[in-house]
Amino acid sequence: MRLLAEFESSYREAGVTWAHDGAEAMRDQLRKGEFRGLLWVGPKDEAVGFAAWDEPKEVGRRVSFYLSEGFRAPGPLESFVSAVSAEAERAGSPVIAWFDVGPIMSLEAQRRVFGARGAFHVVRIDMTYPAEKPLFEPPGESPSGMRPLHGSDQAAIARLLEVAYDDNPVERAVFVRYRDPVRDAEESARDLLHDTYGRWMSEASFGVFDGDVLASAVLVNDLRGPLITEVMTAPGYRRRGLIRHLLRASVSALRTLGMPAPRLVVTTWNERAARLYRSLGFVHLPGADGGIWLDLPRLGVTAPQGPQHF
Ligand SMILES: CC(C)(COP(=O)(O)OP(=O)(O)OC[C@H]1O[C@@H](n2cnc3c(N)ncnc32)[C@H](O)[C@@H]1OP(=O)(O)O)[C@@H](O)C(=O)NCCC(=O)NCCS
Repeated sequence: MRLLAEFESSYREAGVTWAHDGAEAMRDQLRKGEFRGLLWVGPKDEAVGFAAWDEPKEVGRRVSFYLSEGFRAPGPLESFVSAVSAEAERAGSPVIAWFDVGPIMSLEAQRRVFGARGAFHVVRIDMTYPAEKPLFEPPGESPSGMRPLHGSDQAAIARLLEVAYDDNPVERAVFVRYRDPVRDAEESARDLLHDTYGRWMSEASFGVFDGDVLASAVLVNDLRGPLITEVMTAPGYRRRGLIRHLLRASVSALRTLGMPAPRLVVTTWNERAARLYRSLGFVHLPGADGGIWLDLPRLGVTAPQGPQHF
């Protein structure tokens, strides 16, 4: 609990908007005996760090962590990371990703440790469509086959999830949980529609169908305010303005419902999506930027070459 208070104040001082909610969620897990993680005890027999993870998935576990001041240099970080990795291996569920601790440790120090281990850095930022901004124009007539999504569309959503990220393996690696892509997509669709990421807002989620096939979709969940959780178009249907129409329908529905401005998350290596959001009028929402160090080789993904954007 002392470390969690330290965590909360360090992250709040660094301007992180979710510092309190993040600490509260872990306190709640501790009280309920549901906290999954390890405590790191320092030379003076005092807790100086912790590692925490969600229920490990088939591909491995994603670890978030905190280190007290005085233990934030590459040396202690390397010892900590080695100890947590070894423990995870022993438990049969390796670490596939470490959440960036940018607010408390320099990128250079993290790179010295995670980079040396071959991990690949992906940065994520939040964007929003400001409440006071007029709605962007649609690119022409509404596409035929466009309609709100319902619970009965779950299988179609799963099929779209399965194909939409084929040409964006880094983005898929950030979230992947199961080795079998069909199962991974099915579980993701189930979680999105069954409130794992906050209540699914069917009333603000839209798709474009081509017959029975879902060609493009935008999903919204209410996770401490509206969060656009999926934006995707099947490869054969891209660059026809489908996402512009769907995002417009979602933002418009949220306004009609009197909801606050929606957020969405975009990562480096997804300049295509970031450019589209910017061109529609979405803006950077500071305070929740973060990153993740991904073990791409372990996930069977080849690291892309070239510069990262933003
Ligand atoms: C990003 C993604 C969702 C865009 O979907 P889309 O349906 O192609 O989006 P749109 O057609 O509305 O817009 C895409 C581009 O096509 C352009 N476009 C729209 N209609 C067009 C037309 N008739 N002719 C040519 N270009 C057109 C748009 O101007 C836009 O250009 P920009 O990228 O320069 O801004 C899609 O590429 C995708 O599914 N990617 C993989 C999943 C993913 O990364 N999702 C985002 C997660 S944050």
